Amino acid sequence: MTRVVSTHSYRGGTGKSNLTANIAASLARRGRKVAIVDTDIQSPGIHVLFNIDPKLLRFTLNDYLWGRCRVEETAIDVTSSLVDSSNAPVPCPGNVLLVPASIRAGEIARILKEGYDVSLLNDGFHSLGEALELDYLLIDTHPGVNEETLLSIAISDTLILILRPDYQDYQGTAVTLELAQRLEVPQLLMVVNKVLASFDFKHLADRIGTTYKTPVAAMLPLSEEMVGLGSSGLFSLLYPESPYAKGVEQLADLIEA
Ligand SMILES: Nc1ncnc2c1ncn2[C@@H]1O[C@H](COP(=O)(O)OP(=O)(O)OP(=O)(O)O)[C@@H](O)[C@H]1O
Ligand SMILES: [Mg+2]
Repeated sequence: MTRVVSTHSYRGGTGKSNLTANIAASLARRGRKVAIVDTDIQSPGIHVLFNIDPKLLRFTLNDYLWGRCRVEETAIDVTSSLVDSSNAPVPCPGNVLLVPASIRAGEIARILKEGYDVSLLNDGFHSLGEALELDYLLIDTHPGVNEETLLSIAISDTLILILRPDYQDYQGTAVTLELAQRLEVPQLLMVVNKVLASFDFKHLADRIGTTYKTPVAAMLPLSEEMVGLGSSGLFSLLYPESPYAKGVEQLADLIEA
């Protein structure tokens, strides 16, 4: 059985794509077969973390949604891009596959103009899991609430909900949290990202946990090195001793529990 893990945040730029990619790597290093689907069709980006040249892609999620190919034909194996700080491949008994979305302006415009049948996306998730015999399907999303968000929350075994210590994020998170509770997601992992090192982590986690009546699963610090990396690789593999990498492992443990 494929387990579905989706990553959401109400607002943009919270760190969804980076966290999804790093968790995928952690699960694959534990021997799992993982696929990530980039459902951020309006502004795709997670392929950058795996160093994919979009010009070389044969098929994308868009091609599947327009009936040009089977969904499993869109998946590319990106396991070889899991490298350490000396650019050597990290030991990885599992696999990371990626279903990228198109970054061609015409394709994005078509989705925005014509929309697409969201039930196709649902069918696609199921077919991918079965055809590729996945242990995990990780869904990276567009921020905010839209049809894909609702679908991915509804079918998730685990929902990772990310927020920053920012009052705009706080209000928005309450909205997504309510949706998750209504849709009865079995496992909810609330993650606070980009926490300033000078903050009292425990106090902030307690305060956020009490506000949302949901414990905080991980607190990830704002990292200057990660800003410097600028999504050009998988931070937790390049900085395995960092608190961010430890947080990723902690989340992978919870997903696997
Ligand atoms: N803990 C962190 N410390 C420093 N920088 C971070 C951290 N987490 C993420 N970032 C940076 O924040 C930026 C946004 O991250 P990312 O693209 O993962 O967010 P996102 O939620 O997927 O954004 P979008 O909503 O646009 O899809 C990236 O430049 C990333 O490197
Ligand atoms: Mg993103």
